[in-house]
Amino acid sequence: MRKILFVCLGNICRSPMGEGALLHVLDEREMRDGYIVDSAGTSAYHVGEKADARMRDTAQQHGVVLTSRARQVTHQDFADFDLILAMDKSNYSNLMELAHDHGHDGGNVVLLRDFDDQARGADVPDPYYGGADGFEEVYQIVMRCCNNLVNDSSIFSGK
Ligand code: 4NP
Repeated sequence: MRKILFVCLGNICRSPMGEGALLHVLDEREMRDGYIVDSAGTSAYHVGEKADARMRDTAQQHGVVLTSRARQVTHQDFADFDLILAMDKSNYSNLMELAHDHGHDGGNVVLLRDFDDQARGADVPDPYYGGADGFEEVYQIVMRCCNNLVNDSSIFSGK
């Protein structure tokens, strides 16, 4: 079983979208059986909450249902997950610090947009304080990256 974790700050906007988008891509390709997909936040601000209603509405408009409840990243996640996908460079550096604090090398942590052929290595913009356009933009970026990720079978499947 291959385990993939999406991580943002609050775990109510970008990383729930990542989790939902990847599950959707895996369903489309009839590949879901081999994978466990989850999401978490570097902060504890929204623990226990559903994804933000604006993010759920945008996903729903594209036929993607978001079912996550927010949780905070734990040091156990570095051992449990094969691939940890950070939504922006701030999430990435917070994850690396947490990994190192707990004796992990962080070698399984990568930026999601390393898989974006349109803007490699960019941040997924935080939509929380912005308008509706921001949520659509997050959807487009995240879905594009998830498709590219699954196509990049060596990193995705670990083979
Ligand atoms: P997310 O968005 O990291 O994509 O879930 C945010 C949600 C909440 C906050 C910041 C970003 N906040 O500061 O409460």
